[in-house]
Amino acid sequence: MFDHIEPAPRDPILGLGEAFREDPNPRKINLSVGVYQDEDGKTPIQESVRRASRLVLERQKTMSYLPIPGSPAYAAAVQRLLFGTAHEVVTSGRAATSHAPGGTGALRVAADFIHQQLPNATVWLTQPTWPNHPQIFAAAGVPTKSFPYFNAKANNLAFKELLAAIEKMPPGDAILLHGCCHNPTGIDPTPDQWKTLADAIDGRGLLPLLDFAYQGFAEGIDEDAVGLRTLCRPGAELIVCSSFSKNFGLYCERVGALTIIAKDKRAADTVQSQVKVCIRSNYSNPPAHGAELVTTILNDAELRGLWEQEVAGMRGRINGMRELLVKTLQAKGVPGDYSFITRQRGMFSFSGLTPPQVETLKQKYAIYIVGSGRINVAGITSENVEPLCDAIAEVQ
Ligand code: LMR
Repeated sequence: MFDHIEPAPRDPILGLGEAFREDPNPRKINLSVGVYQDEDGKTPIQESVRRASRLVLERQKTMSYLPIPGSPAYAAAVQRLLFGTAHEVVTSGRAATSHAPGGTGALRVAADFIHQQLPNATVWLTQPTWPNHPQIFAAAGVPTKSFPYFNAKANNLAFKELLAAIEKMPPGDAILLHGCCHNPTGIDPTPDQWKTLADAIDGRGLLPLLDFAYQGFAEGIDEDAVGLRTLCRPGAELIVCSSFSKNFGLYCERVGALTIIAKDKRAADTVQSQVKVCIRSNYSNPPAHGAELVTTILNDAELRGLWEQEVAGMRGRINGMRELLVKTLQAKGVPGDYSFITRQRGMFSFSGLTPPQVETLKQKYAIYIVGSGRINVAGITSENVEPLCDAIAEVQ
């Protein structure tokens, strides 16, 4: 039965993590998968999570199934984080949130929902985007197309081209934008550009779909929601796929959420009934523990304060490493102006390294970077920055 099956290529991101683990070189450096690492190269459990974990274990009374969309307390906490406390989409009841296993799980449920309920829609993806995006929609049978996003020459947003592309998208299609910290480029629209984008999307009759996986990594928890909140106009419809892997460090717990904003509460209830069908036929109902941790932290003033400090700490370290990387590249005389790295936001830097350079860095120096040249800045430490920049100088 299985003889005809060809081996699949490794995943372009998680496959590098596998290759890194297998590499015996003691000087290896992992700048591939988007996982936060501290100054010692470790991915720590946050103190807020550790404390919440004790509370959750003490308070937990059952391990029976959760409802299909997860716990209502989690949904409420997610909505407050996304929209703020008294946003109209929350008070009106027109936002329906389901707990999904990670941002990827939320995207897959959104893709199934689009396939079933908007069968004529194409999903438009930024060029470039996270390599798993096209794969998720393809698996759900949803067609995708790309639109320009990144101006490689100027290292900024190709805003004019992006707007021109929107003008040509068929009404009824969906446009997938990254809520903040665009993956892989680290380049986001400004608050003014979000307003223009919201006008263009609305004017064209498109459904915005936001992948929001890095809230807190660019400027702050509320500041990073500016794009999302700008798109949430009165009556506007929207899908948000959010993740707590990065900002709570809950990677292996798979905690994310799918939030669909409909035009009113009745429409939201109807949409949610269909989302439940998608979830039931996919993983039935979500795993509880990670969501309990998030709910506990967000609902406890002290833990929430601690968590916000921890997010600020991660953000600060990453920005510090951006500065250090640029300074060290300059000090080593690497040709070119790398100051753009300090303007990019979030975990990633789109370095401009070419696929052959990335390959040489891996083969010769055991430095693991995604093929597109995307560097996980959170993997840089004051110890590995020197050998990293020496190697980059060598491959120039
Ligand atoms: C990344 O882009 O590296 C992360 O989002 C991890 C992943 O699942 O690819």
